[in-house]
Amino acid sequence: SDTHSTGPFIAAIDQGTTSSRCIVFDQDGRIVSVDQKEHEQILPKPGWVEHDAAEIWTNVQLVVSGALDKAGITRSDVRALGITNQRETTLLWDKATGQPVHNALVWQDTRTDALCRELGRNVGQDRFRRETGLPLASYFAGPKIRWLLDNVDGLRERAERGELLFGTMDSWVIWNLTGGVDGGVHVTDVTNASRTMLMNLQTMEWDPKICASMGVPMEVLPEIRSSAEVYGEARGELAGVPVASALGDQQAALFGQTCYSPGEAKSTYGTGTFLLMNTGEEAVNSYNGLLTTVGYRIGNQKPVYALEGSIAVTGSLVQWMRDQMGLINSAAEIETLASSVEDNGGAYFVPAFSGLFAPYWRSDARGVIAGLTRYVTKAHLARAVLEATAWQTREIVDAMQKDSRVELSSVRVDGGMTSNNLLMQTISDFLDAPVVRPLVAETTCLGAAYAAGLAVGFWPDTDALRANWKRAAEWTPRLDVETREREYNNWLKAVQRTMGWIE
Ligand code: G3P
Repeated sequence: SDTHSTGPFIAAIDQGTTSSRCIVFDQDGRIVSVDQKEHEQILPKPGWVEHDAAEIWTNVQLVVSGALDKAGITRSDVRALGITNQRETTLLWDKATGQPVHNALVWQDTRTDALCRELGRNVGQDRFRRETGLPLASYFAGPKIRWLLDNVDGLRERAERGELLFGTMDSWVIWNLTGGVDGGVHVTDVTNASRTMLMNLQTMEWDPKICASMGVPMEVLPEIRSSAEVYGEARGELAGVPVASALGDQQAALFGQTCYSPGEAKSTYGTGTFLLMNTGEEAVNSYNGLLTTVGYRIGNQKPVYALEGSIAVTGSLVQWMRDQMGLINSAAEIETLASSVEDNGGAYFVPAFSGLFAPYWRSDARGVIAGLTRYVTKAHLARAVLEATAWQTREIVDAMQKDSRVELSSVRVDGGMTSNNLLMQTISDFLDAPVVRPLVAETTCLGAAYAAGLAVGFWPDTDALRANWKRAAEWTPRLDVETREREYNNWLKAVQRTMGWIE
């Protein structure tokens, strides 16, 4: 191409919920090439979601090769490799064979409902919140490990004998990249570890008491490292390239959006939506249903914390409209369809498919469509789908303002759904605040690349990274206050109807 970059480059792997991708970046943080591959969503029962980790590792290798080919470069042009990943998704594999012992249990999977209720019995949902920053909910990894050990024959014995390794997808990818059975390093980073419910947020170490209460033998756990340091050298296609960062995808997006100062926040619109605000070196407790989590830790610098509002279902609702309902042929069509009507026609869609996440944390909730009359068409439903994403964002922003007492003057957005103009406008309308998208909307990979680049001295410091952030688009509110408040009330009424569905 005419804008050919001469390198050197940083590569980043994003092992996400629906696909794995690899992006090559140049020194200005510009995208040189992208390769991506979807993997199967395995849905064995209502509420259960699994991934085949062997398929994922194959896809990761394919997209790495693909991205290098498209960029026309080889491993000698790549200074470092960064990893980012869907968080909480839980895998156990055999140390000696490298084979997964079961499909990975995906973060959206609700099978640990009853277990979480049992763990909170007499004590409540906040039993481990002080140490971990998280409420007991089926979302997190710890109870998923416990479920596997309790429900798959012989696993607990094998775990106790030290034959099994646990990892979220960062650990799985890094272990395989660095040699697998042949010397792979078994590590995770502080951001991913902070989503297991097993790590103490102050010490940044596994909490032996919580592991015991949760029934997780510590033998299976990886070593917790910072988000930006060299964990080891890659083998295979990228042989010799330092594997130099790992961050959960939402923390990576925070990093890629250069939210390095307390009060800076971003919202990523992918399968789900996750709004994170940097709270600096202080772990801020939430009293309004948000999570306290690690934002990032660069080498041996102090960790930076974040408050997070997590929404389980946003982009995946659009996929559901396409794949399960057949109401649209492509994800992009949701915007065309929704734009063909003026409003939602009275319909509200609360997609509590994995229960409700922030700010409710109700695993007993299931989805509803409320307000139906014969007037409602599929176009109104399409509109309700987009509004669901926007209202859920509003609920989280409200909680964030209460917890942090920071007024969000604007929201930085990124992720696949930000190409939907109607959605972005609706979010701005419902928040009554400007919504801003940067030039590089692939902030997840960018954040992993930035962290890896910092670890190997490819970029000097975070100021150099801030200079790369460029505004590409902005939406400003234009909805009148009366409509907004009336609609918000209707939405909140619909939310109430999802709760208590599962006994
Ligand atoms: O916590 C789950 C989150 O990390 C998944 O992100 O982008 O794969 O939906 P995404």
